[in-house]
Amino acid sequence: MQKTKNSTRRSFVKKLAAGALAAGFLPATSAQGRNVRKLDWAGLHRKYAANDKIRLACIGMGIMGFNNCRTAVKVPGSELVAVCDLYDGRMGHAKEEFGTHLFTTRNYEEILARQDVDAVIIATSDHWHDHISIAAMKAGKAVYCEKPMVQHMDEGRAVVDTQKKTGKVMQIGSQRVSSIVLAKAQELYKSGIIGQLIAVEAWNDRQSSNGAWQYSIPTDASEKTVDWERFQGDAPKHAYDPVRFFRWRNYQDYGTGVAGDLFVHLFSGLHFITESSGPERIFATGGLRYWKDGRDVPDYMSALFDYPESATHPAFNFQLRVNFTSGDGGSSKSRLVGTDGVIEVGGDDVILRKHKVQSQPTYGGWDSYGTFSEAQQKEYADWYRQKYPRLPEQMEEPGELVFKAPEDYDEHFDHHANFVRCIRENAMPVEDAAFGFRAAAPSLAANMSYFEKKVVNWDPVKMELR
Ligand SMILES: NC(=O)c1ccc[n+]([C@@H]2O[C@H](COP(=O)([O-])OP(=O)(O)OC[C@H]3O[C@@H](n4cnc5c(N)ncnc54)[C@H](O)[C@@H]3O)[C@@H](O)[C@H]2O)c1
Repeated sequence: MQKTKNSTRRSFVKKLAAGALAAGFLPATSAQGRNVRKLDWAGLHRKYAANDKIRLACIGMGIMGFNNCRTAVKVPGSELVAVCDLYDGRMGHAKEEFGTHLFTTRNYEEILARQDVDAVIIATSDHWHDHISIAAMKAGKAVYCEKPMVQHMDEGRAVVDTQKKTGKVMQIGSQRVSSIVLAKAQELYKSGIIGQLIAVEAWNDRQSSNGAWQYSIPTDASEKTVDWERFQGDAPKHAYDPVRFFRWRNYQDYGTGVAGDLFVHLFSGLHFITESSGPERIFATGGLRYWKDGRDVPDYMSALFDYPESATHPAFNFQLRVNFTSGDGGSSKSRLVGTDGVIEVGGDDVILRKHKVQSQPTYGGWDSYGTFSEAQQKEYADWYRQKYPRLPEQMEEPGELVFKAPEDYDEHFDHHANFVRCIRENAMPVEDAAFGFRAAAPSLAANMSYFEKKVVNWDPVKMELR
């Protein structure tokens, strides 16, 4: 622990190593419960025989497919055996990076039919998530599906029900849920240190063309190298368009806009910290302000979510924003605001700021007291001393506590390690299908609110629209 001082207040700065955090703060393992999140250190150091490996395949080998595979193969006891994609260049690159032994195909059903595949990572565009997840679990595979779990509200129940019916392990890919940073934020929240939760504010702002989803389109893209027909699936049909294929997020036909893409991470984090099922009332507004490149989704969205009281939190308000032209380079944070302080969660740190509200009123300063006549001021002071004989409690000195993840800490690794562990132990992962749907649904409800210009009512426990 290292202490720093400034002129107005003391701040306490704590930096803990990942090992200390993992050992000291993560909840205990429960093989049966949902919250199986502690790392299996012994498992991570074991040597696995060739016939004891979890064999993975990745369906959707784009940016996140590669990211997932790079991380997944680092988890001891895992190996990548097959990949599926609809642009040949990506399958070629998978072989360049992971070895020529990989089985590759454009048809995900061929992956699901393979006996040598235990689990699939689904990192396709959002409009394929439900179809492939359901088919994979029915084919007996464990599933790691990228967020948002589904593209549309009415697709969620079928995925949740299939997971329950098949009993297969399903992990959704908002990797921050496995982070030691969120574990610390959860511990602080549960300790009651910020008092009564009043509101939460969160944002994910960006300011670059890549940040606004204008990803590179390869010069060899053509109807030969891209399987456009298969890509469209159940989406409305269009003539071949490489922009729609490589920048699918910009179109409602395949993606979920800024809400499904980015709000969902912030919901996942908040729901993990507060163990909430979600909001009951949703309103969103916004517009396409700057990135007018043919997209049919907003590049600015601001939304309000009313959380009802539950066993783990009081009623509170959640305010969320994504701005792709932030004017300041971009940032992302979640701030849990309580009566006695604020927990600020960033990408790799948690800051606790304490500032307790006083339990009895004060007078003087910026107050009407100074406007009273001198006689009235004296009378008021006498009255005050009789009414509040106790001196106002000494304000606890505002303090600041910072927890920072170590430089080389990788929450994505922990998330994949949690997935593989749950496959081995047949346990429920930290971000199961119901959790995934409860994070996706309010994001999708924000889209409904924005496009249909209405308030959306949602039952977060039953997981249905009201
Ligand atoms: N967890 C995170 O932090 C994170 C970050 C980025 C993206 N994502 C999610 O990952 C998913 C993929 O995003 P991306 O940025 O990698 O997109 P991308 O366009 O780079 O890759 C998607 C790939 O899916 C393939 N594909 C589409 N339909 C397919 C099908 N039916 N069968 C086989 N392959 C198919 C496409 O050919 C493409 O290569 C999205 O759902 C996105 O929301 C998650």
